Amino acid sequence: MYKIAVLVSGNGSNLEAIIDSINKRELKCVIELVISDREDAYGLERAKNNNINTYTFSRKKYGDKLSNEILKVVEGKVDLIVLAGFLSILKGDILDIFKNKIINIHPSLLPLFCGSNMYGIKVHEKVIESGAKVSGCTVHYVDASIDTGNILLQKTVPVHCDDTPEILQKRVLIEEHKALPEVIKMKISESEARIK
Ligand code: GRF
Repeated sequence: MYKIAVLVSGNGSNLEAIIDSINKRELKCVIELVISDREDAYGLERAKNNNINTYTFSRKKYGDKLSNEILKVVEGKVDLIVLAGFLSILKGDILDIFKNKIINIHPSLLPLFCGSNMYGIKVHEKVIESGAKVSGCTVHYVDASIDTGNILLQKTVPVHCDDTPEILQKRVLIEEHKALPEVIKMKISESEARIK
């Protein structure tokens, strides 16, 4: 069975969407573990409620060693690492060992509205400020820079003139919850094709 690790820093609604897809048998994989860089991430509760093993490596405690600690618990155990609202930057060996096996979801249409400090509600504030009429989300591979890896899938939503950042965030999140399982499914099919 295809195995994934999901990394979260916050609410974990994308994690929940993956769990739902697995429960509905739309996704044929197992979430082997959920890892957080914050002890108070609600995503950890969601994992525990679904009997998924969790690990917390606080960014404050591990600093530059965070990526290596994560590598120690995922190496040889999972086929894919899914960043689902994970706010730390992965560095070093993990990027080589899991090349094209780490995906991230970003709440804008990359390459727009990204980079360091562009996360959460700030992204949607900037989209509205820009006057853009379309926004969306992007699932992409993770490489050594921020939000620059190859794009795997994008979904778009309209931006209405009376939107607040919060309203836009909700509209984008609905698409995120479809996009991430869709890309995981693609990665599973890819790996099945390689085995055959
Ligand atoms: C999402 O908007 C995701 O694109 C971004 O962080 C947010 C996480 O939401 N990277 P959740 O924790 O999955 O609810």
